[in-house]
Amino acid sequence: MDSTPAAPAPSLGSPTTRLEGREKVTGRARYAAEYALPDRAYAWPVPATVPRGRVTAVDTAGALALPGVLAVLTPSDAPRLGACDDPTLRVLQDPEVPHRGWYVALAVAETPEAARAAAAAVRVRYADEPHDGVLHTDHPAAYTPEQANGGYPAHREKGDAAAAFAAAPVRVDCAYAVPPLHNHPMEPHAATAHWDADSGTLTVYDSSQGSGLVRSTLADLFDLPADRVTVVSEHVGGAFGCKGTPRPHVVLAVMAARHTGRPVTLALPRRHLAAVVGHRAPTLHRVRLGARTDGTLTALAHEVTTHTSRVREFVEQAAVPARVMYAAPDLLTTHRVVPLDVPTPSWMRAPGECPGMYALESAMDELACALGIDPVELRVRNEPDAEPDSGHPFSSRHLVECLREGAARFDWAAHRTPRRDGPLLIGTGVASATYPVYVAPSAARAHALPDGTYLVQTNATDLGTGARTVLAKIAADALGVALDRVTVEIGHSALPQGAVAGGSTGTASWGWAVHDACTSLLALLARRSGPIPEAGVSVPADTTASAKQKSPYARHAFGAHFAEVQADTVTGEVRVRRLLGVFAAGRILNPLTARSQFVGGMVMGLGMALTEHSTVDPVFGGFVENDLASYHVPAHADVPDIEVHWLDEHDKHLNPVGGKGIGEIGIVGTAAAIGNAFHHATGRRIRELPLTPDRVLAALG
Ligand code: MOS
Repeated sequence: MDSTPAAPAPSLGSPTTRLEGREKVTGRARYAAEYALPDRAYAWPVPATVPRGRVTAVDTAGALALPGVLAVLTPSDAPRLGACDDPTLRVLQDPEVPHRGWYVALAVAETPEAARAAAAAVRVRYADEPHDGVLHTDHPAAYTPEQANGGYPAHREKGDAAAAFAAAPVRVDCAYAVPPLHNHPMEPHAATAHWDADSGTLTVYDSSQGSGLVRSTLADLFDLPADRVTVVSEHVGGAFGCKGTPRPHVVLAVMAARHTGRPVTLALPRRHLAAVVGHRAPTLHRVRLGARTDGTLTALAHEVTTHTSRVREFVEQAAVPARVMYAAPDLLTTHRVVPLDVPTPSWMRAPGECPGMYALESAMDELACALGIDPVELRVRNEPDAEPDSGHPFSSRHLVECLREGAARFDWAAHRTPRRDGPLLIGTGVASATYPVYVAPSAARAHALPDGTYLVQTNATDLGTGARTVLAKIAADALGVALDRVTVEIGHSALPQGAVAGGSTGTASWGWAVHDACTSLLALLARRSGPIPEAGVSVPADTTASAKQKSPYARHAFGAHFAEVQADTVTGEVRVRRLLGVFAAGRILNPLTARSQFVGGMVMGLGMALTEHSTVDPVFGGFVENDLASYHVPAHADVPDIEVHWLDEHDKHLNPVGGKGIGEIGIVGTAAAIGNAFHHATGRRIRELPLTPDRVLAALG
């Protein structure tokens, strides 16, 4: 009799709710600030209150006299730190104040309230210096760096874009501005640090996108062997890039723990985030498009000016997507950066692509208007055979299919006449989306246990995305077992090294290692006989060699956004009535959480279009908007029913799981689609985000 059970239905491609969902909704899932270690103390940092200068004196007497205060660390007495690539992490090492909000002291106390009171009682004296936080395109300090963020060359030119532009029969030459934006995840950055002096080991619970990187950074800063440092990021309440590298809070928490000998929790108040955890740098764009009268592009120039801090060069790579999108024979893409007395920018969801595609896709809409060609059609006519900048063939590219399918589902053709409903002007817009396919080396281990279940380990991080769940699905399918026989362990630096959860790489990178480990485990099990021993049977995998291989293909995900908006001619309020996205992002592994990723990106893009902005205060320095009352993220009432679809895309040139990454592409292009719809509705073009009522009324005036 054949006792082989029928193979279970594949898990990948079918919807699965988050495996840790019950833990989260019952409050059992622990976040970094919730590790209530015995005897723990609390730290509260002191931000600088000047826009630029140096600390000349710190008076801690008043703070130390308060009840429950254990210590106050200052730049003159804080423990010295080791080397670090990221100067924003070398906190309390010198008296320089590069921007308002830079930390100048740290209070440690028995309770969070006492620590906060102590921080408020620290008296800091400064020598002020003149400061400049205002970005403009002809700033004398602007320069072209060697590289933009992501290691891309800052400047690329193919042919002579300026000459081709001058010779083009139809031309668009426009400037666009995207303001600074902030990630503002629901869970502000937090860390709990425990220094065990007897064993010389450090354990840190940190809200981060990658505990492996936090571990190696802390080991360097505190001069510890990496194997004495453990970092746990088991549950993370959102990140969007601002937890992609270690942040000052975790360094301060460790400093405080080592200094006091107590476990210390440091949970940043939201009001501190704007200055110390990074932001999307503002970008000023000039886009020139030259075309023949049939819509064929002959010239494309995208020039970006952005800011960075005086602490660290970070260049938002906003001209990079123009290297990918359209078949223009003469193509210029370049970046200039201005170091200012501002907080240091960093990653925010789709760095580069998000602001860059706002500008490029707005300009494409302007060109469509100038030509009198449908904006979907204009994009289709400029579909390239190969990646325009590099000439590499695409591994797969289904932008045209996304545009066509989106147009059909949105009933685009029937909505191309703007209409009026009382005070409301209503119109529609479209924009393309793109995001690169990255993959990073990762390791994993798969165990077969005697009870017939499997354990899979990799140091992945689940930021709320469903990473844990999709890895279990990948493992279940590779092993050919039902999902409930697989347990996944992630979020701990002692596990096999996993890549940072960034760049939409997670599923591909960890999934590849999990797939390899499970496949090897199956092969091993097939070769052996007898029961599984008590300790289980286990197999490691490491994708370093395979993931680092250069692909001969240009690999990108694509998508198309369609928006219908209304502009209120009385109040100036713009509302999105419909939003529809179609994506071609390889194989979709968990439709339930994938939809959430796309929708989440589009909601964030809606916020970028209509409400979100940060402002560098020209007089007092730092960012003006530093809470959710002033930095307006979309609330439920702002978000219409969002429709998301994807194409069934098979791309053999990716990785064993076949996904392209979906965490970021949803935000790319959304704001342009909304801005284009605003223009369609009103006949007015606003080239600076967001479309707030003051700007709208001025434009309609
Ligand atoms: Mo994401 S902005 O690549 O961490």
